[in-house]
Amino acid sequence: MKLLIDTTARTLTRVDGAAETTLDLYTKEAFEAISLEWVRVGWSLEYYHTFSWFGLPVLQLPEDMLRLQEVIYQVRPSVIVETGIFQGGSLLFHASLLKAMGLDDARVIGIDVEIPAHSRENLRRHPLSSHITMIEGDSTAPDVVSQVKAAVSGLRPVLVILDSNHTRDHVARELEAYAPLVSEGSYIIATDGIMKDIADVPRAQSEWKTDNPYTAALEFAARHTEFLHQQPPWLFGGKSPIAENVTYWPGAWFKRVAPAASAPEAGAPASTGG
Ligand SMILES: C[S@@+](CC[C@H](N)C(=O)[O-])C[C@H]1O[C@@H](n2cnc3c(N)ncnc32)[C@H](O)[C@@H]1O
Repeated sequence: MKLLIDTTARTLTRVDGAAETTLDLYTKEAFEAISLEWVRVGWSLEYYHTFSWFGLPVLQLPEDMLRLQEVIYQVRPSVIVETGIFQGGSLLFHASLLKAMGLDDARVIGIDVEIPAHSRENLRRHPLSSHITMIEGDSTAPDVVSQVKAAVSGLRPVLVILDSNHTRDHVARELEAYAPLVSEGSYIIATDGIMKDIADVPRAQSEWKTDNPYTAALEFAARHTEFLHQQPPWLFGGKSPIAENVTYWPGAWFKRVAPAASAPEAGAPASTGG
């Protein structure tokens, strides 16, 4: 596939085999095509490894963090559960927001299969440490899920972010294990669906085309109509025609809209695609 940007003619031309489409460069469609390529090239160059929050690395695209902030601000969670700690920057991000919102008793629970001593120590010494609980273990192991359940018991709202092992099977198991914890009006977020779109770039793997969190999310959506599978509406749009996040998290967002699991009706649309 070729994308040809002509800044003089103000066009974007997409050549895919014999098919050729030319768009006005200054359109939503051109922006989306260029953004996707920007995301793909940046991922390949490990752009997401260059950010930090309050002193610790955070492996995210800043736009995803800003959109997450909009949701956290609206939901006002008492607990944020995140699977996948890495070096802890994302836990600090959540904790700093909760503290800045005046939610002094709110907690962040991070789970990782391995929490190296230096990461644990960095978080323990951080001024936000009193808001953070770390649990070491496989995020889908029954004893780990039980520990998280016990820790969030009686606390509402609960918001969950899944950012650990990104295989389809693991994310599917995480969605089933952690979705029951999410309160009505709050979210569970299956991050890094972008794997479906980057399977052909340097450093990626061809299996990611289907073995990814996006596929797990679509399958979860088909089984769980108690969740709305949709990107959260932006708080402000101005007059911009742009309506989709520039993101590593396509198809990630599930909002609980009903209290308990209900089977999908025959013939009902499974998902809005998030
Ligand atoms: C993408 S990183 C997390 C990034 C972090 N949330 C951030 O924003 O900076 C993925 C983490 O998941 C952890 N992990 C991998 N498999 C896991 C599993 N089965 N259970 C829990 N954590 C796992 C890895 O050790 C790694 O630290």
